[in-house]
Amino acid sequence: MSKKIRVGIIGVGNCFAGLYQGIDYYRMNPNEKKIGLIHEFIGPYSIFDIEFTSAFDVGKNKVGKKLHEAIYEYPNMVNWIDKQKITKSDTVVMPSPILDGVGLFVENKISPIESISIEKAREIISDEIKRTKTEILVNYLPVGSQKATEFFAEIALETGCAFINCIPVFIASNKTWVKKFENKNLPVLGDDIKGMIGATIVHRSMAKLCDMRGARITKTYQINVGGNTDFLNMKEQERLESKKISKTQSVTSQLSQNIDEENIYIGPSDFIPFLGNTKLAFIRIEGLMWANIPFNLEMRLEVDDKANSAGIVIDAIRATKLALDRGIGGALVSASAFLMKSPPIQYSDEQALQCFNEFIAKKRER
Ligand SMILES: NC(=O)c1ccc[n+]([C@@H]2O[C@H](COP(=O)([O-])OP(=O)(O)OC[C@H]3O[C@@H](n4cnc5c(N)ncnc54)[C@H](O)[C@@H]3O)[C@@H](O)[C@H]2O)c1
Repeated sequence: MSKKIRVGIIGVGNCFAGLYQGIDYYRMNPNEKKIGLIHEFIGPYSIFDIEFTSAFDVGKNKVGKKLHEAIYEYPNMVNWIDKQKITKSDTVVMPSPILDGVGLFVENKISPIESISIEKAREIISDEIKRTKTEILVNYLPVGSQKATEFFAEIALETGCAFINCIPVFIASNKTWVKKFENKNLPVLGDDIKGMIGATIVHRSMAKLCDMRGARITKTYQINVGGNTDFLNMKEQERLESKKISKTQSVTSQLSQNIDEENIYIGPSDFIPFLGNTKLAFIRIEGLMWANIPFNLEMRLEVDDKANSAGIVIDAIRATKLALDRGIGGALVSASAFLMKSPPIQYSDEQALQCFNEFIAKKRER
């Protein structure tokens, strides 16, 4: 059992830049560890026990670079730590097959490498994972990367890696995929990160509150805008379907009564370049309370979307390592329920945290 957690990254984009720079922020400011961390330790693991041992991307300006350099490359825009002071990494970003990873609107921003064949890519990536003894793969591909995600999930199965799926392609919540991970006794955690203080957690908490207080929600929307490649990519409606499903069911799963399909809209809605990594969410809930008297509620959330995701993935990685140490394969249901929008089993957030903490304390298997 190793004290270090050997992690491979699929997609060296903004989310990963926030994870890497965030860890360095705590390294440089050790007294601030109590702020912004859900768990300082998960089992024996602190945030400093994570090593990024391999990384895969298709950006011409990222492939071939050391990881600590690649995270600052365009179109990434996380700049929390001075580039000169960032902790160095020997990991070099390796090429990946493009498949459906690069959308129409982001293509000229990413400027992808010449695509390599699937067979060649499979060989390069598997060799790199084995050479670097990577044990967990974290999927940070763009929304709509169904084929590319499945390609990497297969690679995880072939190379004996656990898989953390941060995006809305259904792997940990899909029985067929979970069975494959069970058969190999490898943990899988997903799907689609639920931000720390993101639109989903705020919306579902308020929706649950209305439900718990006996009100009936009749209409609700959640409109999200941002200015990074994630939002630009999501302008392509065909890539969005799974994101809408993931975000919508994360909210409706908390309600005891259905909302008619035409009375609920939840989704990313536009790209506003100057917002950068700032995400704005506008949430409205309309409902009926005592004696059918109507009420409505409006919320506006403004948040750095990359701090939002990194604060969650930091726990996902350490929870997955615990499962590896304990020889547990298949879906990590408690961690997924707390950390992800579309877990295999939805709980309320309070219940999910309790189950997750019981898993950490070894009082529950998964
Ligand atoms: N709060 C959040 O930020 C949040 C929450 C939930 C889900 N997510 C999801 O996490 C994912 C990552 O977000 P991000 O902001 O880092 O996106 P990003 O656009 O900044 O990064 C995506 C990276 O993937 C690379 N890529 C594209 N195709 C590839 C391929 N075939 N193989 C390897 N790499 C490829 C791109 O070059 C880029 O570096 C997105 O799907 C996003 O929706 C983010």
